[in-house]
Amino acid sequence: MASLGQIIFWSIISVIIILAGAIVLIIGFGISGTHSITVTTFTSTGNIGEDGILSCTFEPDIKLSDIVIQWLKEGVMGLVHEFKDGKDDLSEQNKVFRGRTAVFADQVRVGNASLRLKNVQLTDAGTYKCYIITSKGKGNANLEYKTGAFSIPEINVDYNASSESFRCEAPRWFPQPTVVWTSQVDPRTNFSGVSNTSFELNSENVTMKVVSVLYNVTVNHTYSCMIENSIAKATGDIKVTDSEIKRRSHLELLDSKASLGVSSSFAVSWALLSLSLYLK
Ligand SMILES: *[C@@H]1O[C@H](CO)[C@@H](O)[C@H](O)[C@H]1NC(C)=O
Ligand SMILES: *[C@@H]1O[C@H](CO)[C@@H](O)[C@H](O)[C@H]1NC(C)=O
Ligand SMILES: *[C@@H]1O[C@H](CO)[C@@H](O)[C@H](O)[C@H]1NC(C)=O
Ligand SMILES: *[C@@H]1O[C@H](CO)[C@@H](O)[C@H](O)[C@H]1NC(C)=O
Ligand SMILES: *[C@@H]1O[C@H](CO)[C@@H](O)[C@H](O)[C@H]1NC(C)=O
Ligand SMILES: *[C@@H]1O[C@H](CO)[C@@H](O)[C@H](O)[C@H]1NC(C)=O
Ligand SMILES: *[C@@H]1O[C@H](CO)[C@@H](O)[C@H](O)[C@H]1NC(C)=O
Repeated sequence: MASLGQIIFWSIISVIIILAGAIVLIIGFGISGTHSITVTTFTSTGNIGEDGILSCTFEPDIKLSDIVIQWLKEGVMGLVHEFKDGKDDLSEQNKVFRGRTAVFADQVRVGNASLRLKNVQLTDAGTYKCYIITSKGKGNANLEYKTGAFSIPEINVDYNASSESFRCEAPRWFPQPTVVWTSQVDPRTNFSGVSNTSFELNSENVTMKVVSVLYNVTVNHTYSCMIENSIAKATGDIKVTDSEIKRRSHLELLDSKASLGVSSSFAVSWALLSLSLYLK
């Protein structure tokens, strides 16, 4: 039978073990930072061959030296970009991104973690993660980056054609867009029988030049050439009167919405993303 002394001894030991466990937990939480901060990304679209921006913002922190920005990409080992201690740290950068990335260093203090990506390639499309640590906590948000090519069309009178014709030309599109002509006089007219659209592969073998000719046009009517693919939509208008030619054009990106992430969980292992469908 245990003596009173033994019972008291083991009780004290148990209390010490429980207290120690609690202290370890508290310290652990303190170090890992249970606080999560709000990180917001915005769907971004890159135009192949040009420079792009992957947009990300976070709750600002006055202490720049405490801010860590990490950009990662699904299916890519290492980092896309890292910024810490007030400067870039590219020691773990994947070589695909070498020399092509930059954060706006003077904007980091106000909560701008956006990444500039030079010379966007088709293969830069994918899911990116903007991961932030500040003295207040940490957070991350994902961003779907879409890539393709889009350009504003130019419409001219095609003096070469046998009838009165307009020629709509846009230098760079990818994936292959649809081209539809409309008339403001009768918006429901289907011009597919009196127009001819062709696509010509550009020298880099990805983007294509779009040319569409509309035959038998009428003076004083406004015609529109609409070029659209999965990422962008562009319109060119033309009106020829007895005295002048009026033109107008417009380009808009489709599906640009903000996505918000407040979760602080962080999955390092990502499945490889297959681009083969996209490249087909
Ligand atoms: C971040 O700063 C850059 C450079 O000033 C700016 O172009 C970009 O729009 C900013 N991004 C956000 C999300 O505020
Ligand atoms: C116009 O026609 C000439 C001769 O038929 C041809 O060489 C030229 O490429 C044409 N121009 C356009 C813009 O179609
Ligand atoms: C226009 O007509 C063509 C066939 O002549 C058809 O394939 C196309 O879908 C029509 N477009 C519209 C917008 O109705
Ligand atoms: C344009 O109009 C002329 C005369 O009405 C006609 O002969 C020709 O076939 C038309 N062209 C097209 C492409 O419809
Ligand atoms: C469209 O253009 C192509 C090449 O320029 C030509 O071969 C074809 O006959 C044209 N089709 C029509 C309907 O004008
Ligand atoms: C584009 O394709 C053609 C023929 O397939 C090839 O000769 C050329 O080298 C390619 N150009 C580039 C930039 O890959
Ligand atoms: C085009 O419109 C102008 C001004 O509205 C008018 O004077 C002219 O006669 C019209 N031309 C045609 C071919 O309808």
